[in-house]
Amino acid sequence: MDLDILKSTAMAMVASGKGILAIDESHGTCTKRFEALGVECNEDSRRAYRSLLVGAQGIEDYVSAYILFDETLRQETEEGIAFTKVLADKGIIPGIKVDKGAKDLALHTGEKVTEGLDGLRERLLEYFELGARFAKWRAVIAIDRNENLPSRACIVANAHALARYAALCQEANLVPIVEPEILLDGDHSIEHCYEVSVEVWNVLFDQLREQGVELQATILKTSMILSGKSASQRADALQVSQMTLKGLKEAVPDELAAVVFLSGGQSPKESTLHLDLMNKAGALPWPLSFSYGRSIQGPALEAWAKNPQAISEAQEKLLHRAKMNALATLGKYDPSIDD
Ligand code: G3H
Repeated sequence: MDLDILKSTAMAMVASGKGILAIDESHGTCTKRFEALGVECNEDSRRAYRSLLVGAQGIEDYVSAYILFDETLRQETEEGIAFTKVLADKGIIPGIKVDKGAKDLALHTGEKVTEGLDGLRERLLEYFELGARFAKWRAVIAIDRNENLPSRACIVANAHALARYAALCQEANLVPIVEPEILLDGDHSIEHCYEVSVEVWNVLFDQLREQGVELQATILKTSMILSGKSASQRADALQVSQMTLKGLKEAVPDELAAVVFLSGGQSPKESTLHLDLMNKAGALPWPLSFSYGRSIQGPALEAWAKNPQAISEAQEKLLHRAKMNALATLGKYDPSIDD
């Protein structure tokens, strides 16, 4: 492990005024998103769509790193240029999702544990050779008050796997993004989400420390603290930003390299506004940025699905969302210019 290299990669991934774009959907997720818009999902359509995302000119002004899926890390544009080269030529750092997905947790109905540790050391060596400089592993935690979820077993199992993954990444000189996503589904209050989030983060940082993971070279990718999607009274944007900041300050060690958010079902504008309000609230121990998938890609994907030939129109939509979020990382987003 070369800690200096890891720290400089982590810093570059959250350079001032920039964030991370997630385009690492598995084939299953990609199929759902494409088919919902009437597009067949196959290797060619994924290549065409992701070429548009990777090739958007000027995105490097707002985005410092892309999270790719295994297929995309190995894929080339129609002109035969590796996606990783297209990104690296723009100064964008390629990374890779390395988990093998969330599977049912034994003896815990309704809960998942993310798998993928077997053979990971060898896969990471190959990913580094292919140009990746960071990795991502996503764990999912469901809240269900009636069923008393999440269980402690689910939180600990996922945090332990995240910590073992992170240690393997650092050994291979890849910056680990550790992502415990607390799902938006449910009718829970924002206060309940706060309690669960803080517990998950506390257990995660205990496990990371126990495995010897260097926090200065680790990035937390997290959900915001939100009311459940079907809660009768959902907290407003100011409350979301205040509760999320309060929880992060309580549980996240100052030495962590950065905190970035997933969008997790928030609308594009909501996720931008929440990030902006947090960055307007004053100085923090870590850079606070975005690592959105759906809320940056959404409008571009819809435009492309309507007309796959109108590449520049879709790219303009992508650039617009990337720019709005880049402004939000500086606390300079103005909703009145966000159409
Ligand atoms: O793991 C989650 C993705 O990387 C980004 O998620 O679509 O919820 O923003 P999102």
